[in-house]
Amino acid sequence: MWEGRAPGKVILFGEHAVVYGRPAIAVPVRGVEARVTVRPGERGSGIWLECCDLPALAPGEGTCRYPVREAPAGDPLRVAVLLGLTYLGIAPSQEPDLVLTISSTIPIARGLGSGAAVATALLRALATYFNQPLSAEETSRLVYEVEKLFHGTPSGIDNTVIAYQQPVYFVPGEPVELLQVGVPFHLVIADTGIASVTRQVVGTVRQRWQAERARYEYLFDTIAALVRAAREAIVRGEWRALGPLMNENQTLLNEMGVSSPELDRLLKVARSAGALGAKLSGAGRGGFMIALVAEEDIAPVTEALERAGAAQVLSTCVMAASDD
Ligand code: PMV
Repeated sequence: MWEGRAPGKVILFGEHAVVYGRPAIAVPVRGVEARVTVRPGERGSGIWLECCDLPALAPGEGTCRYPVREAPAGDPLRVAVLLGLTYLGIAPSQEPDLVLTISSTIPIARGLGSGAAVATALLRALATYFNQPLSAEETSRLVYEVEKLFHGTPSGIDNTVIAYQQPVYFVPGEPVELLQVGVPFHLVIADTGIASVTRQVVGTVRQRWQAERARYEYLFDTIAALVRAAREAIVRGEWRALGPLMNENQTLLNEMGVSSPELDRLLKVARSAGALGAKLSGAGRGGFMIALVAEEDIAPVTEALERAGAAQVLSTCVMAASDD
């Protein structure tokens, strides 16, 4: 059996503004992951996909096991497989006989990067099976192609942070900067239980930007300044300084209209329970919120969020890859 894995992610600063060319910071969430295993299939079968643990990924109800060649052209798993085979130099006429089984503990449509993680795990599984190298840069590029089909205008931050599996300072169109984390720090992340459809929220922000361009450009520039300040604080190990910056970023996201009563409630609960700062993460409207906490406050903040009805509460330690 061969396999590929990929972590989840959260955006620490700069969502939405990053779609308009501003910088953003994202970090991997290693406590959840997507996993794809490969095993040989029956002779002449071609490639079959199995995603019965994740029925939401299946192209239709009751079809969680299906041959790639019969999947609709827009099926994200099919797109990822075909991109992977092309990258690995395997012609469509030489389709191998394989079964790819997809599983994931990353909640879907909550801003934790489940789509990019599944595509990354799938590409890694194929590369491992064919015993070919697949760099983080190539993985990110291929996954971006998949993301473009489903998100409309993705900034590219999800595929980047997940393929590199490290905290990243990301500016669209520029080489990725892997962030040196001066002192590791902790985040508690909690699910509102409400789906956040990135494409829709990004579309709404675009309409508002078109209607009130000067105001939104100002908001994006203000967010960009926060992101740069956060980068300095992370590198210098001044992680406590991130709390107020997160709160300020949240205020600006609120002004953009992408928060929600459920998010606002969980943010308040986290701050009252001792978080140093908190904000929504990802597209907003639903999905996850993140809170910066001192290590000793992980448990009380987690419990307060659970009591407040969060659908799931996770925590993660943000550190440089070399600290793993
Ligand atoms: O975390 P997600 O997948 O919900 O992405 C949201 C991030 C946005 O900045 C809103 C969109 C993007 O492409 O960067």
